[in-house]
Amino acid sequence: MILDVYEAVTSRRAVRRFTDRHVPKEVLERVVSAAAWTPSGSNVQPWRIFVVTGEPLAQLKKRAGERLAAGDPWDEPEYETYPPALKSPYCERRFAFGQEHYGSQGISHDDLEARQRAAAANWDCYGAPAALFCYIDRTMGPPQWSDVGMYLQTVMLLLRAEGLHSCTQMAWSKYHKTVAEVLSPPDDLLLFCGMSIGYEDVTVHHTRTGRAPLSETVTFVEN
Ligand SMILES: Cc1cc2nc3c(=O)[nH]c(=O)nc-3n(C[C@H](O)[C@H](O)[C@H](O)COP(=O)(O)O)c2cc1C
Repeated sequence: MILDVYEAVTSRRAVRRFTDRHVPKEVLERVVSAAAWTPSGSNVQPWRIFVVTGEPLAQLKKRAGERLAAGDPWDEPEYETYPPALKSPYCERRFAFGQEHYGSQGISHDDLEARQRAAAANWDCYGAPAALFCYIDRTMGPPQWSDVGMYLQTVMLLLRAEGLHSCTQMAWSKYHKTVAEVLSPPDDLLLFCGMSIGYEDVTVHHTRTGRAPLSETVTFVEN
């Protein structure tokens, strides 16, 4: 599948329903081999990636699902997913996303139980047969976290070139101990996120998540 970069960028979106179609290992290898060319400050390459399929992924989904069903509280967070007091305009954007995301599934803002039920699909990787788990060394700071973000976007764009879709998920950090049980990462690593990978279930209706007008996020400085 030949996609130009613009097509790869604009056709990428968070897909939340995948088919069970097998993702060949050589495709995943090709993607992570090319993604290794992601730039990073002083080339430290601070990402540490686990690509997970088959029985280990089934185990992960099962264990997370069991914790969820048992009402087990989330693990002690290893980083703050959002600032405690998200200021304007970011809090409005986050709220609007929630409205749109849950609204499109017929779930009202106040229906916490239905929202939690919908969110549970995170820990089934939205049905995806492949996933990656992205760790970063605990000692790394904001510039290295930004390097990791670039790495993840590179992976997502390459997946598009392979006809695959993805969904990055900080939700997996809520169950980082369960992920660690299955993946046994070294203790000096911290789980940033998971990423579900697979072929989109095109029978599921989706709404495209919009973006703030450019005037809110970009300033052209000219003479
Ligand atoms: C770092 C990061 C973490 C995310 N975590 C989750 C998650 O836990 N669950 C989920 O369904 N989507 C998650 N998303 C997807 C975002 O909600 C999505 O990218 C955003 O709303 C923009 O929509 P789009 O990707 O479809 O354009 C995450 C995205 C990023 C970049």
